[in-house]
Amino acid sequence: MPVMKSAGGRSATARLIFLIIFLCPPLWSAESEDRAVYTPGIAPPAVWGIPLGKASLETEKAMAELGRHLFFEPRLSANGCVSCATCHQPQLAFTDGLSNAVGIYGDKHPRNTPTLTNIAYAASFAWIDAGIESLEQQAKVPMFNVTPPEMGLVDETDATAKIKDDPAYQSLFKHAFPDQEQPITLAYIQKSLAAFERTLISYQSPFDRYVYAGEHDALSDGAKRGMRLFYSRRLGCVTCHHSWNLSGPIRTETEPTTEPTFHNTGLPLSDGVAARQQQESFKTPTLRNVAVTAPYMHDGSLKTLEDVIKHYEAGGQGVAKSGLLRQFTLDDGQRADLVEFMEHLTDQQFIQQAIHSDPNPDLRLPPHCSNSQSDTVASTASANN
Ligand code: HEC
Ligand code: HEC
Repeated sequence: MPVMKSAGGRSATARLIFLIIFLCPPLWSAESEDRAVYTPGIAPPAVWGIPLGKASLETEKAMAELGRHLFFEPRLSANGCVSCATCHQPQLAFTDGLSNAVGIYGDKHPRNTPTLTNIAYAASFAWIDAGIESLEQQAKVPMFNVTPPEMGLVDETDATAKIKDDPAYQSLFKHAFPDQEQPITLAYIQKSLAAFERTLISYQSPFDRYVYAGEHDALSDGAKRGMRLFYSRRLGCVTCHHSWNLSGPIRTETEPTTEPTFHNTGLPLSDGVAARQQQESFKTPTLRNVAVTAPYMHDGSLKTLEDVIKHYEAGGQGVAKSGLLRQFTLDDGQRADLVEFMEHLTDQQFIQQAIHSDPNPDLRLPPHCSNSQSDTVASTASANN
């Protein structure tokens, strides 16, 4: 197996972890055509399994195409200025570069916008909330959230009001839901957004080429050293960032009931954050594409990957911090190696893929938008840089 050959020179423990994680044939998807994951070109490794909630391939394709239009659609917001992609931008692996998301009326969201990389496989759909069971259910949250308002919608008719008379949407909905008389409803908007999000699968990073395709040169020497550190017992990163997704627990059609887990990583208290927040536990995000999703953590308090590593080196603080965290020391070279490993988790195809991009890139927002969220985002983004 290429994994074993290419990863020579590790300790016995690291080799064991490799066996557990990657003891699986490096095959590209061998699923039957109809159950395959809908992605263009080569498919993700079959061993990753099929995410929950998929329809037949043909239906999924039509729903995902509609979902792509809706994901980039500012008319899904109260003032016609904010779309899902305002905060989840493809070139940043569906994040926004801000420490905290900014809602439709300029309010600061308490949390950092998480990546949507491989979100279809997640066992939970928020930083702390295990109560959101599916992508369909999650899609309603930003539309109707009031703490703070993100897209500012108030009721179901708001969601469809600005698009229902658009012939382009009438045709997209008809195509996605051919059996429905009146498919332009909130429920079908949710279904289509979820289908689009199920296409956000990242599996072509240099790390994947190294592990699954046996391309020994896909990782630099520094990245290989960093990978050994990452999988070492001393650092313990993989106790929480595990499996092929380097994330918390995942769900698939064959493992549909995996329970989500949440950990407190002992971050110091951020300015203006209630003390009780330091006691909370958070979802372990995937580290795929992490090099383009700064700033980091649920509160966006750590600016660089190096800052994150230094945080883990110090072992975290506070009474609620997880017992799985380890204190350790790295020299500058080792820290740089670990950063280099994480940089090799970036999948350029994923970030640039046409099926993930705005179907109307030249669309201009109405003039009244320039004073609202979009300006705040632009100014906060430059303040963060
Ligand atoms: C104002 C910025 C903003 C907008 C607009 C927005 N999101 Fe988000 N999104 C966030 C933030 C912040 C979170 C984390 C929320 C939390 O956990 O408290 C999040 C979380 C998510 C998650 C869960 C991710 C995870 O790892 O658990 C999904 C899925 C998601 N958003 C999809 C969408 C969709 C679909 C839309 C459009 C209907 C959308 N978002 C609109 C900022 C935004
Ligand atoms: C106890 C479980 C645990 C361990 C051990 C752990 N992590 Fe994490 N990691 C998390 C959680 C949970 C978060 C989100 C924490 C938060 O926002 O408060 C996170 C966040 C991160 C982030 C930021 C991701 C983002 O999108 O914001 C990076 C990078 C990261 N971890 C890398 C590492 C590395 C490298 C190691 C090993 C040195 C490691 N982690 C060890 C659970 C863990």
